[in-house]
Amino acid sequence: MDNSSRHESLAPETLTVVSGRPRKTQGSPVNPPIVLSSTYISQGVPQPDEFLYTRMDTETWQPFEEAVSSLENADQPSVVFSSGMAAIASVLSFIPDGGKLVVPRHAYQVTLGFAQDLIERHNIRVEKIDIADTSSAIKAFDEADLVFLESPTNPMLEVADLPTLIDAAHSAGALVAVDNTFATPLLQQPLSLGADLVIHSATKYLAGHSDVVLGVVVTNSAHLAQTVRAYRTLHGSIAGPFEVWLALRGLRTLALRVNSAQANALELAQRLSQHPKVAAVRYPGLPTDPGHKNATAHMNGYGAIVVLQPVGGIAEADSMISHLTLWTPATSLGGVESTLERRRRFSTESPTVPENLIRLSVGIEHIEDLWNDLNQALNALEG
Ligand SMILES: Cc1ncc(COP(=O)(O)O)c(C=O)c1O
Repeated sequence: MDNSSRHESLAPETLTVVSGRPRKTQGSPVNPPIVLSSTYISQGVPQPDEFLYTRMDTETWQPFEEAVSSLENADQPSVVFSSGMAAIASVLSFIPDGGKLVVPRHAYQVTLGFAQDLIERHNIRVEKIDIADTSSAIKAFDEADLVFLESPTNPMLEVADLPTLIDAAHSAGALVAVDNTFATPLLQQPLSLGADLVIHSATKYLAGHSDVVLGVVVTNSAHLAQTVRAYRTLHGSIAGPFEVWLALRGLRTLALRVNSAQANALELAQRLSQHPKVAAVRYPGLPTDPGHKNATAHMNGYGAIVVLQPVGGIAEADSMISHLTLWTPATSLGGVESTLERRRRFSTESPTVPENLIRLSVGIEHIEDLWNDLNQALNALEG
């Protein structure tokens, strides 16, 4: 791999393109090949860096792992997993039975479901915090083994003062993990803000085309990286070679996609806030948004997720969604296409998320097409 230290000074836009490539030698391919083999020729005592069996390691993962770690500015190669949840599971395994976990009160609902499972099956204490309320959040850190943060949160878009929370968690003796899925490494680098571990659902922006499910863990610590890798080998939560190859191909355009989508998101958030059929909009890029101050201080942009509440309740939210023709009603986010969903359609979503809240994952289509579709669907609401 051409993963030399000369990449260190390059801008993220360049890193997405150049990292994880084969060495530039005569006749070598420009892209890393997909290696389809479950096992490798090997005899005698295995050497530490030898490929043996693809549940342990394979060269098809490495270019993607190197590219993600270069974007997160990490010292260690990242560790790719079969899904974002598999990546999260590896990090939650750091909490000993009977230990303590701190999680956001709003976060990806399956992460919170996982925390509930830890309570029931591993006697782990779980304390939920409002990540936007720094002083009260810090009070929960006492005796914590792991402080798991997500910022911006899914789906409420709360934004944390990450450096302050991370410092306080470390002072309390806890490890800190940050789910950086919404921000992407282009807009936020939690390791540089002091976090120990970063997680992505690479299903979303990193891969970017709604065609693979993948996760990744990134850390600066050789020990943590080794532990996460060992977890992956032990649990077999490994990614298929095609998926990882596709994710690397998607990653090449991460900067173009994120920049285009977040420009659309800002424009839509501004227009939606003026719409008579919209009761509330959240987007950290709006100066009036509660997350604006923290996002401006600690992020390089505001992302491409917008949430809105139409005037009315569940019926109006569902009706608005059913009037859309360009936007796709679907769960998940971070693809090139604009999607949306009413989050409380899931009975497992937190009851403190408003029932009519619609999460928009803004894509890279033309802004006027996106707006016209939203506008007509809102105008179709009665009253
Ligand atoms: C913020 C966040 N983290 C983690 C996940 C889980 O990722 P995956 O679906 O790839 O397992 C999701 C999925 O929606 C998510 O939104």
